[in-house]
Amino acid sequence: MTTPTVTPVTTTARLARLVEEIRAVVDRGLPPDLTAYLVGERLAPHLGASDLLTPEQCEGDPERYRQHVLHAERDGGFSVVALVWLPGQRTSIHDHVAWCVTGVHQGEEHERRYRLVSDGLAARLVATEDVVNRQGEVCGFAPPGDIHRVWNGGDGTAISLHIYGADISRLGSSVRRVYAQPTDEK
Ligand SMILES: [Fe+2]
Repeated sequence: MTTPTVTPVTTTARLARLVEEIRAVVDRGLPPDLTAYLVGERLAPHLGASDLLTPEQCEGDPERYRQHVLHAERDGGFSVVALVWLPGQRTSIHDHVAWCVTGVHQGEEHERRYRLVSDGLAARLVATEDVVNRQGEVCGFAPPGDIHRVWNGGDGTAISLHIYGADISRLGSSVRRVYAQPTDEK
Protein backbone atom coordinates (compact mmCIF):
# COMPACT_ATOMS: atom_id res chain seq x y z
CA MET A 1 0.00 0.00 0.00
CA THR A 2 1.41 3.39 -0.92
CA THR A 3 1.14 6.58 1.08
CA PRO A 4 -0.95 9.21 -0.70
CA THR A 5 1.01 12.28 -1.67
CA VAL A 6 0.06 15.48 0.14
CA THR A 7 -0.76 18.15 -2.42
CA PRO A 8 -0.48 21.85 -1.63
CA VAL A 9 -3.40 23.60 0.00
CA THR A 10 -2.91 26.98 -1.61
CA THR A 11 -1.18 28.08 -4.75
CA THR A 12 -1.08 31.12 -6.99
CA ALA A 13 -1.87 31.15 -10.70
CA ARG A 14 1.77 32.01 -11.42
CA LEU A 15 3.03 29.09 -9.36
CA ALA A 16 0.60 26.79 -11.18
CA ARG A 17 2.06 27.98 -14.51
CA LEU A 18 5.59 27.40 -13.22
CA VAL A 19 4.66 23.85 -12.14
CA GLU A 20 3.34 23.12 -15.65
CA GLU A 21 6.58 24.42 -17.17
CA ILE A 22 8.67 22.27 -14.82
CA ARG A 23 6.54 19.21 -15.58
CA ALA A 24 7.10 19.68 -19.32
CA VAL A 25 10.87 19.56 -18.72
CA VAL A 26 10.89 16.68 -16.19
CA ASP A 27 8.65 14.53 -18.38
CA ARG A 28 11.31 14.55 -21.11
CA GLY A 29 13.34 12.14 -18.96
CA LEU A 30 16.68 13.83 -19.63
CA PRO A 31 19.83 13.30 -17.52
CA PRO A 32 19.68 14.97 -14.07
CA ASP A 33 22.18 17.75 -14.78
CA LEU A 34 20.45 18.76 -18.02
CA THR A 35 17.03 18.59 -16.33
CA ALA A 36 18.31 20.91 -13.58
CA TYR A 37 19.69 23.36 -16.13
CA LEU A 38 16.46 23.53 -18.11
CA VAL A 39 14.28 23.80 -14.98
CA GLY A 40 16.47 26.72 -13.87
CA GLU A 41 15.72 28.47 -17.18
CA ARG A 42 11.97 28.09 -16.52
CA LEU A 43 12.25 29.31 -12.93
CA ALA A 44 14.27 32.49 -13.54
CA PRO A 45 11.53 34.68 -15.15
CA HIS A 46 9.21 34.14 -12.16
CA LEU A 47 11.66 35.17 -9.45
CA GLY A 48 10.78 38.44 -7.75
CA ALA A 49 7.23 38.50 -9.11
CA SER A 50 4.85 39.76 -6.42
CA ASP A 51 2.16 37.24 -7.44
CA LEU A 52 4.35 34.12 -7.19
CA LEU A 53 3.79 33.36 -3.47
CA THR A 54 0.98 33.96 -1.00
CA PRO A 55 1.75 36.11 2.09
CA GLU A 56 1.70 32.95 4.24
CA GLN A 57 4.34 31.34 2.03
CA CYS A 58 6.67 34.29 2.75
CA GLU A 59 6.50 33.91 6.53
CA GLY A 60 9.65 32.95 8.40
CA ASP A 61 10.30 31.34 11.78
CA PRO A 62 12.50 33.02 14.44
CA GLU A 63 13.91 29.61 15.44
CA ARG A 64 15.23 28.36 12.11
CA TYR A 65 14.88 28.78 8.35
CA ARG A 66 11.42 27.73 7.29
CA GLN A 67 10.36 25.42 4.47
CA HIS A 68 6.97 25.82 2.78
CA VAL A 69 6.12 22.93 0.46
CA LEU A 70 4.44 24.59 -2.54
CA HIS A 71 3.95 21.57 -4.76
CA ALA A 72 4.67 17.84 -4.76
CA GLU A 73 4.11 16.01 -8.01
CA ARG A 74 1.78 13.01 -7.58
CA ASP A 75 4.27 10.58 -9.10
CA GLY A 76 7.09 11.92 -6.90
CA GLY A 77 8.96 13.29 -9.93
CA PHE A 78 9.63 16.72 -8.46
CA SER A 79 8.76 19.10 -5.66
CA VAL A 80 8.77 22.88 -5.28
CA VAL A 81 9.46 24.54 -1.92
CA ALA A 82 9.99 28.09 -0.70
CA LEU A 83 12.66 28.55 1.94
CA VAL A 84 12.38 31.66 4.11
CA TRP A 85 15.53 32.79 5.91
CA LEU A 86 15.73 35.45 8.58
CA PRO A 87 19.14 37.16 8.85
CA GLY A 88 21.85 34.75 10.01
CA GLN A 89 19.80 31.56 9.63
CA ARG A 90 21.64 28.71 7.93
CA THR A 91 21.58 25.05 7.00
CA SER A 92 23.89 22.25 8.08
CA ILE A 93 26.58 21.12 5.64
CA HIS A 94 24.71 18.60 3.48
CA ASP A 95 24.22 16.97 0.11
CA HIS A 96 21.02 15.95 -1.66
CA VAL A 97 18.90 13.00 -2.62
CA ALA A 98 18.32 14.25 -6.17
CA TRP A 99 18.97 17.06 -8.65
CA CYS A 100 18.14 20.51 -7.34
CA VAL A 101 17.53 24.00 -8.70
CA THR A 102 17.59 27.06 -6.49
CA GLY A 103 16.51 30.59 -7.35
CA VAL A 104 16.54 33.69 -5.18
CA HIS A 105 13.13 35.35 -4.99
CA GLN A 106 14.00 38.03 -2.43
CA GLY A 107 17.21 39.16 -0.73
CA GLU A 108 20.37 37.10 -1.19
CA GLU A 109 21.54 33.62 -0.32
CA HIS A 110 25.13 32.89 0.66
CA GLU A 111 26.57 29.49 -0.12
CA ARG A 112 29.79 27.64 0.68
CA ARG A 113 30.60 24.62 -1.44
CA TYR A 114 32.78 21.69 -0.36
CA ARG A 115 34.31 18.53 -1.65
CA LEU A 116 35.41 15.39 0.11
CA VAL A 117 39.14 14.76 -0.09
CA SER A 118 40.54 11.32 0.57
CA ASP A 119 43.02 11.40 3.43
CA GLY A 120 44.40 7.89 3.69
CA LEU A 121 41.59 5.71 5.00
CA ALA A 122 39.49 8.69 6.07
CA ALA A 123 38.03 11.57 4.11
CA ARG A 124 37.88 15.22 5.07
CA LEU A 125 35.80 18.12 3.88
CA VAL A 126 37.50 21.00 2.07
CA ALA A 127 35.76 24.29 1.24
CA THR A 128 36.15 25.02 -2.47
CA GLU A 129 34.07 28.10 -3.20
CA ASP A 130 32.02 30.88 -1.55
CA VAL A 131 29.15 32.18 -3.65
CA VAL A 132 26.55 34.92 -3.17
CA ASN A 133 23.34 34.22 -5.08
CA ARG A 134 21.42 37.46 -5.59
CA GLN A 135 17.78 38.15 -6.32
CA GLY A 136 16.82 36.68 -9.67
CA GLU A 137 19.78 34.30 -9.94
CA VAL A 138 19.36 30.55 -10.38
CA CYS A 139 21.72 27.69 -9.77
CA GLY A 140 21.28 24.02 -10.62
CA PHE A 141 23.20 20.91 -9.60
CA ALA A 142 22.95 17.14 -9.42
CA PRO A 143 24.67 14.61 -7.14
CA PRO A 144 27.44 13.70 -6.65
CA GLY A 145 29.66 16.67 -5.84
CA ASP A 146 26.82 18.73 -4.37
CA ILE A 147 27.97 19.30 -0.78
CA HIS A 148 27.21 22.78 0.53
CA ARG A 149 25.92 25.01 3.29
CA VAL A 150 23.51 27.91 2.68
CA TRP A 151 22.74 30.91 4.86
CA ASN A 152 21.23 34.36 4.81
CA GLY A 153 24.16 36.76 5.13
CA GLY A 154 22.06 39.84 4.42
CA ASP A 155 20.17 42.27 6.67
CA GLY A 156 16.61 41.39 5.60
CA THR A 157 14.48 38.33 5.05
CA ALA A 158 15.65 36.15 2.15
CA ILE A 159 13.31 33.86 0.20
CA SER A 160 14.43 31.25 -2.29
CA LEU A 161 12.57 28.76 -4.45
CA HIS A 162 13.98 25.25 -4.56
CA ILE A 163 12.93 22.57 -7.00
CA TYR A 164 14.02 19.02 -6.27
CA GLY A 165 13.80 15.86 -8.34
CA ALA A 166 12.12 14.03 -5.44
CA ASP A 167 8.95 14.10 -3.33
CA ILE A 168 9.83 16.42 -0.45
CA SER A 169 6.34 16.21 1.05
CA ARG A 170 7.07 12.53 1.72
CA LEU A 171 10.79 12.73 2.54
CA GLY A 172 10.53 15.89 4.68
CA SER A 173 13.69 17.39 3.21
CA SER A 174 16.10 17.08 0.29
CA VAL A 175 19.05 16.22 2.52
CA ARG A 176 20.80 12.93 1.81
CA ARG A 177 23.55 13.28 4.40
CA VAL A 178 24.69 15.87 6.95
CA TYR A 179 28.45 16.39 7.36
CA ALA A 180 30.38 17.52 10.44
CA GLN A 181 31.75 21.02 10.20
CA PRO A 182 35.51 21.10 9.42
CA THR A 183 37.47 21.75 12.60
CA ASP A 184 39.17 24.83 11.12
CA GLU A 185 35.85 26.50 10.34
CA LYS A 186 33.65 28.63 12.61
FE1 LIG B 1 21.09 22.18 -0.25
